[in-house]
Amino acid sequence: MMPAPRFRGALIWFVAFALVANALPAAERVPGKAAIASAHPLATAAGHEILEKGGNAFDAAVAVTAALAVVYPTGSGLAGGGFYLLHRASDGRDVMIDAREKAPAAASRDMFLGPDGNPVPGLSLNSALAAGIAGEPAGMEHLVKEYGRLPLALLLAPAIRLAHEGFPVTPHLRAVIEYKREVFAKQKEVARIWLRHGAAPPLGTVIRQPQLARTLETLAKHGLRDFYEGAVSRQLVAGVRQLGGIWTAEDLAAYRIVERAPIVGEYRGARIISAPPPSSGGIVLVEALNVLSGYDLAQLDSATRKHLIIASMKRGHRDRAVWLGDPDFVEMPVAELIHPYYAAGLRASIRLDRAMPSAELPGILPASQGPQTTHFSVLDAEGNRVAGTITLNFLFGSGLVVPGTGLFLNNEMDDFSKKAGVPNGFQLVGNAANEIAPGKRMLSSMTPTFIESPRGLMIAGSPGGSYITGMVLLATLDFLDGRSAAEIVAAPRIHHQYLPDVLQYERDALTPTEIESLTKRGYTLRESQRGWGNLQVVTWDYASGRVDAASDPRGEGEGQVY
Ligand code: DON
Repeated sequence: MMPAPRFRGALIWFVAFALVANALPAAERVPGKAAIASAHPLATAAGHEILEKGGNAFDAAVAVTAALAVVYPTGSGLAGGGFYLLHRASDGRDVMIDAREKAPAAASRDMFLGPDGNPVPGLSLNSALAAGIAGEPAGMEHLVKEYGRLPLALLLAPAIRLAHEGFPVTPHLRAVIEYKREVFAKQKEVARIWLRHGAAPPLGTVIRQPQLARTLETLAKHGLRDFYEGAVSRQLVAGVRQLGGIWTAEDLAAYRIVERAPIVGEYRGARIISAPPPSSGGIVLVEALNVLSGYDLAQLDSATRKHLIIASMKRGHRDRAVWLGDPDFVEMPVAELIHPYYAAGLRASIRLDRAMPSAELPGILPASQGPQTTHFSVLDAEGNRVAGTITLNFLFGSGLVVPGTGLFLNNEMDDFSKKAGVPNGFQLVGNAANEIAPGKRMLSSMTPTFIESPRGLMIAGSPGGSYITGMVLLATLDFLDGRSAAEIVAAPRIHHQYLPDVLQYERDALTPTEIESLTKRGYTLRESQRGWGNLQVVTWDYASGRVDAASDPRGEGEGQVY
């Protein structure tokens, strides 16, 4: 029933006033301090250098991205892709730059299947066919043109310097090179840079990348479009084809980023702003938080609390597998999935005293992790923010370098569902919504996120493939519980991704009592021998004005406040 006209008028004014009053504090608030958290201290420093030169958060994001491509190529690189979630302080605009890789025009649904109809082991991971058309340079170009203030050449300068002068091998990097040794040894140019006498270089060895420096210099001089239509693109097409890939000049020339409206949700008075499709992250995060909003977690014992968190993750990941893919190709019930009523329905299937096996959830299927992919969080003194998660997919992507460019090729094609129900490299399953098609973007789990609570702001994200969204969910709950940035990144983690139907946990994430209680509820528990993820968090407490930045102790990164 509509309210009476006079009351309706008053109601409209009241709503309008509430909206303005609500918008005011956020628009007026200015942190006055800047912060950057990234997976490598030299990338954090590159961002700082740009802020000091008068750049904003968006300029810093470009410099951090370029520096990571040099000093952290295990996680991301120019021949990869990613998502940049932005908040512009001047007008409050929230938007995500979708710079995700796309399947080449010559890709086809069954391209990774052998004569027996099953995926050929390794083909979507270790070959040049594994590479989607890269989106990272286009994402950087858009940042520079639409949001930044400084010239590209200045933003790429720290990366170019790092490529020329080199950077020292750390324990993590050494371990990863060792893991990739055989692939590197087969490529002369790669072996010269990344190996010493056929083995991973000793700690502290300085890695210089002259070819990568030249590629970056060309882009600095001619613009990032050169990666798609210019000297660099010609090198890329020739090089990828030489390696057995299917990229064409047309594929590169046709690549465009898309600006997408973020997924927005609400949880206990906090606003959640996160990645929309082709990432599953925002939807799974908001769906899980909607499920949890029906419980007063603070009043429950810790095992029940964890049981409910896992139950919400499981249901979110089930919907990922069933529904999600590239929004330019498939229709998805997004509004329904993030609707509180839908979550209320899901809650009806959750019992406090026992786990529901994944097989009993309606629908369809299974995880790993490591120093692959990377996230950074930037806040500038004006309040502009970037949550950037960028990737080559697995460590060093396919491990193949495009001859002459110094660029590692991504192996993002593995994120497609190569065959319905067959798990990918992260044990994730999917179906038609995420099958391969020419020009289509592969579904992602990357979850760059802003959480705006009445008390403050968090900018967060992580690598970790299928583990990512659960990590951001845990970080969100910890932030809303009042934990500090350092506590949030260090907290031990639990994970469930629907299939495999296993509750994974890091050492110390569950007490013996919780293990007993969860086992009684019917969970299959597996302790992970290694930690997962590399969470990068910036927080800002409105009342005290305090800004914090923290980098996950599982990695070697650095958070700094300026
Ligand atoms: O987009 C995705 O979901 C994956 N390509 C991310 C890969 C990743 O995080 C690897 N890290 N361990």
